[in-house]
Amino acid sequence: MKEVQLVGIVKEVRNTKNGHRLIILEDETDEIACISIKQNRDSFSIAQEVILDEIIGINGKLSKNGDLLIINSIVYPDISIQNEKHKSEIPVYSAFLSDIHVGSKKFMQDQWNSFIKWINGQMGNTRQRDVASKIKYIVIPGDVVDGIGIYPNQEEELEIIDVYRQYETLAEQLRNIPDHISIIMQPGNHDAVRPAEPQPAFEKEIQDLFTDMDITFVGNPCYFSLNKVEILSYHGQSLLDYATNIQHLKYNQPVETMKVMLKKHHLAPTYGGYTPLAPEHMDYMVIDRIPDIFVTGHVHLAQIGDYRGVTLLNASSWQEQTTYQKMLNFIPDSAKLPIVDLKTSNVTMMDFSK
Ligand SMILES: [Fe+2]
Repeated sequence: MKEVQLVGIVKEVRNTKNGHRLIILEDETDEIACISIKQNRDSFSIAQEVILDEIIGINGKLSKNGDLLIINSIVYPDISIQNEKHKSEIPVYSAFLSDIHVGSKKFMQDQWNSFIKWINGQMGNTRQRDVASKIKYIVIPGDVVDGIGIYPNQEEELEIIDVYRQYETLAEQLRNIPDHISIIMQPGNHDAVRPAEPQPAFEKEIQDLFTDMDITFVGNPCYFSLNKVEILSYHGQSLLDYATNIQHLKYNQPVETMKVMLKKHHLAPTYGGYTPLAPEHMDYMVIDRIPDIFVTGHVHLAQIGDYRGVTLLNASSWQEQTTYQKMLNFIPDSAKLPIVDLKTSNVTMMDFSK
């Protein structure tokens, strides 16, 4: 009857008829049924966040007949309360520009043109021009083009029906960004790489379309650093899996989901959901380094947040509401640009939507 500690992978999780939460935990040798009793409010609320296939720790006691573990508490790795941030020594800024969707009829060319004018110092008030002049990096977390055959009847909403032409057109658009800015480009679920995550960087034929520009092609997800500031960039397809499987998370509040990802140290634990996962020998979806900035896209919202000192961003989109989004009653927050000062970690949002 003494308290035991277990670590295992969640084989099954559901609410029981009586409103308790049942978790079947397994490891290589065995499995055990664990129950979180609704009257134990603290552990029950954490039990509601437990999802399939993730690894958790449980403290509990065996029931009288020994076939059930009564949960006292559930343990996640989480991140420390105050993370020491890496900072740039000089005042340089990074902009985060996601989900451009070039090739779509809904690509926001007018708003994009305003962005290009501004970043070239030809638009905005003194402060806004000053911000533009300090941008040294642009991070693009996926869906750089609209792709083809991504969802049913997509052709009806495509301006450019050849995927290589879409990348060529993207290259034309990016050529208007000043030369002193370095671009980091990652694929998303609309791009021409394998859909299963982790996704590799773009193939050579696509990269070759951008050789005259300073672009670094990376996979999805990816860790990299900009002037010592550590970035975790992930397109974000699993945001929808999280929002579907955890009751208090909503698809239109990606920053709240990103906090849960950091708490769990995992971007996409669940197999068989919206996010296709490739079986790799190493799990590249684990968050094994705590970044200074964690950025996602995918849900086309412009949101800023903070979790224990980590800056959280969802980096908007450059596509108006699509028919598919309309059907889902989803309103994107497009043509916005979150910008982080890498020296102070202050975040500002430029709005090109009007
Ligand atoms: Fe997208």
